[in-house]
Amino acid sequence: MTKTIGIVTSGGDAPGMNAAIRGVTRISHCMGFNVLGFERGWDGLLTNNFKRLGPRSVGGIIQSGGTILHTLRCPAFEEPENQEVGAETLRKNNVDALVVIGGDGSFRGALELSKRSGVQVLGIPATIDNDVYGTDETIGFDTAVNTAVGAIDKIRDTAISHERIFVVEVMGRKRGFLALQVGICVGAEVILIPEKPLDTYQVVKIMEKNAAKGKRAGIIVSAEGAGDTTKLTAEMQKQTDSEVRLSIVGYAQRGGSPTARSRLLASLFAEKAVDLICEEMGNRAIVLQNGIINSIELEKSAQGTKKLDLHILKVADILSS
Ligand code: ADP
Ligand code: F6P
Repeated sequence: MTKTIGIVTSGGDAPGMNAAIRGVTRISHCMGFNVLGFERGWDGLLTNNFKRLGPRSVGGIIQSGGTILHTLRCPAFEEPENQEVGAETLRKNNVDALVVIGGDGSFRGALELSKRSGVQVLGIPATIDNDVYGTDETIGFDTAVNTAVGAIDKIRDTAISHERIFVVEVMGRKRGFLALQVGICVGAEVILIPEKPLDTYQVVKIMEKNAAKGKRAGIIVSAEGAGDTTKLTAEMQKQTDSEVRLSIVGYAQRGGSPTARSRLLASLFAEKAVDLICEEMGNRAIVLQNGIINSIELEKSAQGTKKLDLHILKVADILSS
């Protein structure tokens, strides 16, 4: 039976979202389905703004960052009356299933929409933060880690030459998955994450210990949400003999060509989403669990909180000792 599939990208963009749009579109067409791409996140459902997607309209995008459908934060969609408008948009366009590509916030919106519309909603986890419950990895995380690692490797060179300490801020306003993985991969002397922030005194003590061991340069990786890095840098400059500099990697981590891993994950998540649609299994989140692509209830994923393994932080400390 011919179906109409909607696709929307929502929340912060993540490298690999385009690969997921491409995958859902092409696999849906292969099944004989029509595809509508809603533009600008949830706003596209509030304004009935969509374009028809065919196999050719998603050509040449697997390697590009961002999202051809555009995305935004849409606080209005948290209001029940606006979710009703979104549900009506799906109904009037005869959408049988909606694939939502985004992070945990987008999944919460997707859950509300599924309850109001009666349309099958599938969540594909895509965010550089890797903080979606139920999946080991989200689309874009690997790319963002590699972007930050590449930048910090360069910073390490100048840190060593000048015997300086660098505070490097990476993204992650609420969670430290990105900072932790980046910190391990660059051998950071200190990793600051929202789940376990340290004060300036504690950071200075660690750097003093390192100096006593002969380490004259150092990298402190701090997640955006772990504290004010400008303040930390200024305070450290006053409290240590070293020169301390701040570098913010910032939005470079959100863009750029997705790594092979992010593209593969996006393509396989897309296949699983269409597979579930064919089996009439709606309201599921696609997840990666121990190397296997699987699905769990959308509600479970949207309402769960992914735990960060703080043991890894201890391992990181030993590795950089
Ligand atoms: P991400 O999906 O990357 O985590 P956000 O947290 O900004 O990004 O969420 C994206 C959008 O999802 C929000 O702008 C809002 O429109 C919608 N959203 C977030 N939380 C809810 C909620 N509890 N109910 C309905 N919609 C929500
Ligand atoms: O959700 C991804 C993310 O990049 C976070 O790491 C960061 O804190 C936030 O988005 C930034 O949000 P905005 O795009 O609204 O500036």
